[in-house]
Amino acid sequence: MGRKVIVTGGTGYIGSHTVVELITGGFDVVIIDNLYNSDISVLEGIRSITGVTPKFYDYDLCDRQKLDEVFRAEGKVDAIIHFAAYKAVGESVRKPLEYYRNNFVSLMNLLEMMELHNTPALVFSSSCTVYGQPDALPVTEASPVKEAASPYGYTKQAGEIIIRDTMAARPSQKAVSLRYFNPIGAHPTAFIGELPSGVPENLVPYITQTAIGLRDELKVFGTDYDTPDGSCIRDYLHVVDLAKAHVKALQRLLEGESKANYEVFNLGMGKGVTVLEAIAAFEKATGVKLKYSITGRRAGDIEKIWADPSLANRVLGWKTEISIEEAMETAWRWENRLKNKES
Ligand code: UFG
Repeated sequence: MGRKVIVTGGTGYIGSHTVVELITGGFDVVIIDNLYNSDISVLEGIRSITGVTPKFYDYDLCDRQKLDEVFRAEGKVDAIIHFAAYKAVGESVRKPLEYYRNNFVSLMNLLEMMELHNTPALVFSSSCTVYGQPDALPVTEASPVKEAASPYGYTKQAGEIIIRDTMAARPSQKAVSLRYFNPIGAHPTAFIGELPSGVPENLVPYITQTAIGLRDELKVFGTDYDTPDGSCIRDYLHVVDLAKAHVKALQRLLEGESKANYEVFNLGMGKGVTVLEAIAAFEKATGVKLKYSITGRRAGDIEKIWADPSLANRVLGWKTEISIEEAMETAWRWENRLKNKES
């Protein structure tokens, strides 16, 4: 058996793709997920790709006793990758306390378990949302963290600080925070992908659901921004590239390569893409014409942001390999698979 990793949120979108990369990388994966925002069928998808069904606990991380049970049952755990969290920006504005309670209590419980059960390493899912609207682009890890625009964003900022301070008091443990830019696409096998609940808030699932006929048209939120075509700029990266970065980060933690016991990495392609360019990439990759119209700005949107991923390139030996067109093509394949499953 390989080294054992507990993956919280392992049936979620980024979590499931990371579980696949971990299994194929020889790790022994244990998932904890309460299926709040994911489906048990994802385990089937993981098995179809890897031939392995990871061990699964349907537990809430806020339940400290249950979490303790998992750690007792699993014996020596080499690392935790912590994905599980509430993640909808708009919802967090309406339900701040739920976001604070869930995202903070689960993280603090995990950090306590690390101490109680001598788990040496943690990887934390963070977000480029911590940078707000940056003053200078691209953003490096040294760019200032701006006041959070939503309770969700604050849980990422404060989560990073909780981990940093806890690691400062525990020299024998190590952690990294990974600041994701905009993950898109699905596994090329189309056995796993993004499963948005209800109407998607994010661009690419909205595009694919429109193209397949589930939505009438995509609304482009604003073309009056200070960007080449007026629409917002993001750094879209393929979810499998992102998943692979977790394996690299884990290897760095476990092989003791880092001197510092807490580090932060930007994970992005390093390229800014406008919403209209993203639509064009979808159309080019799939040959499908997308129905869309321009509407007003969405409250809280950042005008433009993209990553300087050179630290991750250099230190983790990681870089993105999949183009936005290929990413769109995999997202489309996944949407079609979902449709075929239902019909
Ligand atoms: N967009 C549209 N129409 C849509 C959906 C999105 O035009 O129907 C635009 C948005 O205005 C934005 C871009 O597409 O310009 C990307 O929007 P997403 O919602 O896909 O992604 P965001 O960058 O807004 O949000 C993502 C994550 C958040 C995270 C944030 C950090 O979803 O969890 O990045 O910047 F906080």
